Amino acid sequence: MTFGVPGMGELEPIERASRDELASLQFDRLRWSVRHAYDNVAHYRAKCETIGVVPDDLLDLSDLARLPFTVKDDLRQTYPFGMFAVPRRQVVRIHASSGTTGKPTVVGYTQGDVDTWAGLIARTLRAGGAKPGDILHNAYGYGLFTGGLGYHYGAEKLGCTVIPLSGGQTERQVKLIRDFEPDIIAVTPSYLLAIGDEFRRQGLDPRSCSLRIGMFGAEPWSEAMRREIEETFDMQAIDTYGLSEIIGPGVAAECVEAKGTLTIWEDHFYPEIIEPETGRVLPDGEYGELVLTSLTKQALPMIRYRTRDLTRLLPGSGRPMRRIERISGRSDDMLIFHGVNVFPSQIEELIVADRRLAPHYVLELHRKGHLDTLDVVVERRVEAGGPPVSDEVAAADLAHHVKAMIGVTVHVRVVDEGSIERSLGKAKRVLDFRPKD
Ligand code: DLL
Repeated sequence: MTFGVPGMGELEPIERASRDELASLQFDRLRWSVRHAYDNVAHYRAKCETIGVVPDDLLDLSDLARLPFTVKDDLRQTYPFGMFAVPRRQVVRIHASSGTTGKPTVVGYTQGDVDTWAGLIARTLRAGGAKPGDILHNAYGYGLFTGGLGYHYGAEKLGCTVIPLSGGQTERQVKLIRDFEPDIIAVTPSYLLAIGDEFRRQGLDPRSCSLRIGMFGAEPWSEAMRREIEETFDMQAIDTYGLSEIIGPGVAAECVEAKGTLTIWEDHFYPEIIEPETGRVLPDGEYGELVLTSLTKQALPMIRYRTRDLTRLLPGSGRPMRRIERISGRSDDMLIFHGVNVFPSQIEELIVADRRLAPHYVLELHRKGHLDTLDVVVERRVEAGGPPVSDEVAAADLAHHVKAMIGVTVHVRVVDEGSIERSLGKAKRVLDFRPKD
């Protein structure tokens, strides 16, 4: 499959600007955004007053480091609308996190924010290889989750025909992909795998379907999973990143011609990388936690929001905007198992590399006596070719690879196809059965 590299004329002017031009725009926008939050959000002003900073202290982009961080708990403390910087009647849209761990996080958008967002998703789609006139099958969840409506408005803005399916009804997803012949699917990687299984269950080859681009995101996924998806569907699998607090999807994205790193749409979001334990700003190139500051958002300006996502900043390539490496995981998803930091995506790499195993898995934490144990539960691959190998051998091999590559001892259980619950959106990879003490 070949793709044309977009000509320079297809980029927006800011995507062709120099780094200095971008920095100057960022500085003007940053001063506006911080002043807007300070003047209109009492909670934010109080935080600044506690440490004795005012918006006029910002004389340079690097002065951003003097301002306090914003964390998810700030949104919870001010639930539901206390962080909004405009009167509620100017807010045309609300989204929210599912709130499985306490109060949901509520975010709001003015009409201007919705327009900015649609523009950024249009840019994201274009970077992924989409064109006006393409048909986009949207299997991200519609509703309070930002994935569905975020992609919807952006795809319309680019000039695509949108099929607003949302997640679920997997048989119907397959039928409509066959009937409407979309060019693009927007979906979580884990749910696309469930759609792939449904194709095969119906005796169909997913490679023969019309899809040529997948716009993935909303959950961590490994490079091995990308290869699996590209092979299964004969498509380009593009990584796109975002979070509700900052806008939703449309914060950073890969380009089809240079996959592997994601360009941050830095004209709207200013990135920093910090050391999670101390909050110290790290130089570009070092790994740490991504902190984002919105530069243009009206309803919910976010100053130095701690995403908990781990990555590093790289210089731009082609565009003046810097890039991030694929998110390796969230600091709060990371298991510290027997003293070793383990991300589900590291184990996923090893599972997907083994052709005897299917890419459906969960990690179970148990406690036996005083010792934590980690079980990797993974499904057998049904169409695996070659001589039959017992589940025990496949399990022992995977446990051996996990020990060799990651350094922890796990117990592997190979289970029947379909025994692991399929996600319709974000997959839940870690189940913690340890007693709460
Ligand atoms: O998941 C927004 C989104 C929708 C992004 C569709 C991309 C596509 P939240 O529900 O607020 O928003 O979850 C945000 O999901 O902090 C990351 O931990 C994770 N995440 C999002 N995209 C990626 C990605 C949406 N490409 C949280 N790779 C973020 C890894 C991702 N993790």
